[in-house]
Amino acid sequence: MRVDILTCLPKLLESPFAHSILKRAIDRNLLNLHIHDLRDYSLDKHKKVDDYAYGGAAGMVLAIPPIASCINQLKEKVAYQEIIYMAPDGELLTQQLANQLSMQENLLILCGHYKGVDERVRQHFVTRAISIGDYVLSGGELAAAVLVDAIVRLLPGVLSDETSALTDSFQDNLVAPPVYTRPYNFQGMCVPDILLSGNEKAIREWEYQTAIERTKQLRPELYNKFNTDVE
Ligand code: ADE
Repeated sequence: MRVDILTCLPKLLESPFAHSILKRAIDRNLLNLHIHDLRDYSLDKHKKVDDYAYGGAAGMVLAIPPIASCINQLKEKVAYQEIIYMAPDGELLTQQLANQLSMQENLLILCGHYKGVDERVRQHFVTRAISIGDYVLSGGELAAAVLVDAIVRLLPGVLSDETSALTDSFQDNLVAPPVYTRPYNFQGMCVPDILLSGNEKAIREWEYQTAIERTKQLRPELYNKFNTDVE
């Protein structure tokens, strides 16, 4: 999968992709990541990418020209399935949306900053705005890193255990069951004996029932969805 991220703060995106699963995906050529600094596309001698808002609203707005120039150049060589704008007013990121996007070949992600981006960018270039939650971040970079992480871990070959993404929380509207490791007994708190029974079928059933119980307790709204789906 190819992902292009457009940002005016590329440094913010260095660390998330330099470690662990995302780094492994890049090293294995499963993620072809390109980070573009919007300032490189600015025509202004000071490399400005933002300007005052028309109408006098407080805060700066990311201007169209550098974004348009960057997107148009990229579109000449890459066919994007989605041009995504990270914004708190976008559709909420869910596991289902991450699953959907993980099946695409080329994604472009635009990170907003300041008061946001000139509305015409959204009208003419953006195919989808995505939010990672109902709160406002200082910019779209951290949200973009969250989105790419959620997508890339689903790509075949990224996780060492191929099945592990399938058993993640939310894949079937259930949270994941609890997990345990050694020691068996920590200060009197013991691992449930079923997990040591060696009875594979009984263990899977226990995990399933525990996941249902936990969902009901921790995420009742998700439990209602699960209940509707299995009916
Ligand atoms: N940019 C600022 N806040 C955001 C959010 N909650 N989700 C996505 N992008 C954002």
